[in-house]
Amino acid sequence: MNKIFLEVANLKKSYDNTKNSITLFDNVNIKIKEGELVALIGPSGSGKSSLLHLLALLDEPTNGKIIINNKETKNLTDVQKDNLRRRAISIIFQDNNLLTDFTAIENVMMPLIIRGENKKIILKKANRILKDVKIFDRSHHFPNELSGGEQQRVAIARALIAETNLILADEPTGNLDFKTSKEIFSLFLKLKKLKKTIIFATHNRELANRADYKLFISDGNIKRVNAS
Ligand SMILES: Nc1ncnc2c1ncn2[C@@H]1O[C@H](COP(=O)(O)OP(=O)(O)O)[C@@H](O)[C@H]1O
Ligand SMILES: [Mg+2]
Repeated sequence: MNKIFLEVANLKKSYDNTKNSITLFDNVNIKIKEGELVALIGPSGSGKSSLLHLLALLDEPTNGKIIINNKETKNLTDVQKDNLRRRAISIIFQDNNLLTDFTAIENVMMPLIIRGENKKIILKKANRILKDVKIFDRSHHFPNELSGGEQQRVAIARALIAETNLILADEPTGNLDFKTSKEIFSLFLKLKKLKKTIIFATHNRELANRADYKLFISDGNIKRVNAS
C-alpha cells in the first residue's frame, strides 16, 4: 500500500473584495497517495487553477490545511515554502511561465541550476528530456520563437527535469494536438511508475479517463469520481 503523500483537510478558498465575494470550494477533504495519477476536472472557472496554486503553496487557503509528505504547510515561512517547492514540487502552469530571455534548453536546465547541481550532468539530463518531449530540435530557440504547443512542451520538460515527488500540471496538454497529448500522458505514466504523484487539470475526457481517478470540482465541492 502506498502511503498518503498529499492531504487536504477542511479546505476552503474564497476570493473576497469590497464589492463581491466568491467561494470556489469549502470543506474539501482529499487524500492522495504517492504514485497516484489524478485528473482534476470541472468547468472553466470552477477553481482548478486556484486549487493547483494552493497545492503548490503559491496561494493561501481561506481555511483548512494542506499537508505534504506529512508536513503541515500552514506555518511555513516563504523561504521554507520556496525550499519545499524546489525539492518536492514541480508546476506546469497554464500560461507556461517560461523565462523569455533564456532559450528552451536554458529554461529546462534552470531548476537544477538553482539547486546548484553539476552543469555537465544538468546539460545531459536536459538534452534527454527535450528528446522525451519531442522538442530537442528547438533547444536553442527563445520562447517567443516557439509555438504555443512547443512552449508547453518546454514547460513540461522543465517540470520533469527536477524529478520531484509531486507534479502539478494545469491543462498541460491544452495547446497540444491529440497525438502529442497522448505522448505527454505516457510520460506521466512513466513518472507514476517511479511513484511520483501527478495531478493534472484537463478538459480532455479521454485523458481524464485514463487517470487513476478524477477529482471533479463543482458546486463548491470537490468529489472523487472513478475514471470510466
Ligand atoms: N485573484 C483572484 N481574485 C478574484 N477572483 C479570482 C482570482 N483568481 C481567480 N478568480 C476567480 O475564481 C474562479 C476560478 O478561477 P480558476 O481557478 O482560474 O478556474 P479554472 O482554472 O477552473 O478555470 C473564476 O471565477 C475566477 O474569476
Ligand atoms: Mg485554469
